[in-house]
Amino acid sequence: MSFPVEETDRLLSTTRSVRRRLDLERPVPEELILDCIDLAEQAPTGGNQPSRRWLVIRDPKVKAQLADLYREAGGSWLSERASALDGSGDPRERAARSGGHLADHLHEVPALVLVTIYGEHDGSGRPGLFDSVLQAAWSFCLAARSRGLGTAWTTLHLGAADKVADLLEIPDRVTQVVLLPVAYTIGDDFLIVDRRPARDITWFDKWGRTLQSPVDGRSPLFADGAGVTVEVDIDAKAAGIWPIAADINLPARFSDEFQGAEWIDDEPAVGARFMGRNRRDDLGEWEITCTLVDYEPERVFAWHAGDVDSPAAQWRFEIEPLLGGTRLRFSMVLGPGPSGLTALIEAMPEKEAAIIANRQKGQAANMRRTIEGIRDLAETQTT
Ligand SMILES: Cc1cc2nc3c(=O)[nH]c(=O)nc-3n(C[C@H](O)[C@H](O)[C@H](O)COP(=O)(O)O)c2cc1C
Repeated sequence: MSFPVEETDRLLSTTRSVRRRLDLERPVPEELILDCIDLAEQAPTGGNQPSRRWLVIRDPKVKAQLADLYREAGGSWLSERASALDGSGDPRERAARSGGHLADHLHEVPALVLVTIYGEHDGSGRPGLFDSVLQAAWSFCLAARSRGLGTAWTTLHLGAADKVADLLEIPDRVTQVVLLPVAYTIGDDFLIVDRRPARDITWFDKWGRTLQSPVDGRSPLFADGAGVTVEVDIDAKAAGIWPIAADINLPARFSDEFQGAEWIDDEPAVGARFMGRNRRDDLGEWEITCTLVDYEPERVFAWHAGDVDSPAAQWRFEIEPLLGGTRLRFSMVLGPGPSGLTALIEAMPEKEAAIIANRQKGQAANMRRTIEGIRDLAETQTT
């Protein structure tokens, strides 16, 4: 029996962290929560060990004490940040308002479900702890959503895990994993949010190898839009990384292929061009005109090499702010236009797959050296 895919996908794509639209007035029947737990318990566990335990907290006094601990461990900071960002137009304002609202009202939520497991994380890499709880806790959230209930994945209380254990009389050697506030939702129209597309974050066969088109198991050929993505986390702000990443000569310091570049046009902006010089043992030396196709200071620096509409390669630096740091992402897609690589493939068509794989390998190494070089420069500049 197959499932109605559209409905299943709607459930999977609209199960949000509900915080401001929790109905604090409407009681949640115990049976409904138990049904969700029964469904959640269908999730796999390491060694098939039945070790998860669910704590449903509804007593107003206990909820109030637990909510105090949540606020003490960080929730109050969420409320303060929400006030600080209020009306600022900051992109984080909405999430901050939502997080602050939950922190302020946690004790009013009809049920708080604490998901726990017998055992302690010993770092051994064996299955059985977090990896035996998370999938069940998320199934609980999905089952709840399909019954009109909202949940929010929260972990701030873990900063006060010992006090939470005292309050709820949780014995030693039980690990708390997540606290899920549960209430009926106000309305049902939760939205799909923007996330990175799968092709941006999925590697095929080896780390960082991307594909633009389906190959269904065969080796990628040139026309498949084979690419490479490398990423590195940097302990510096975007403003400190940007001048380094946007310096077109910088990769020449780290890449054994890229020799240097000069601007053709004065101002870096979309449409501005620079000339890049490259050298490779198998392809010789070549110069190529590059055109900026995306330029957003402190965020994106992207260019097409060769014909801007049918490039030999597409390159992109992206700077992504994280909580407490920054991720630098450098990606490249081969083609679809002609290049030295296509000439090589024309000369040895039977070796096309090997030529592509070899090119990806070489690029991956150069690109990794480049981003790690940028990281080292940015981190020493700012510390
Ligand atoms: C590991 C983890 C910990 C989280 N901890 C908290 C928390 O303590 N408090 C909170 O309000 N939200 C918490 N969240 C919720 C995220 O902030 C939330 O998922 C994010 O804002 C995206 O919203 P969405 O779930 O609606 O897509 C946590 C989420 C995860 C996965």
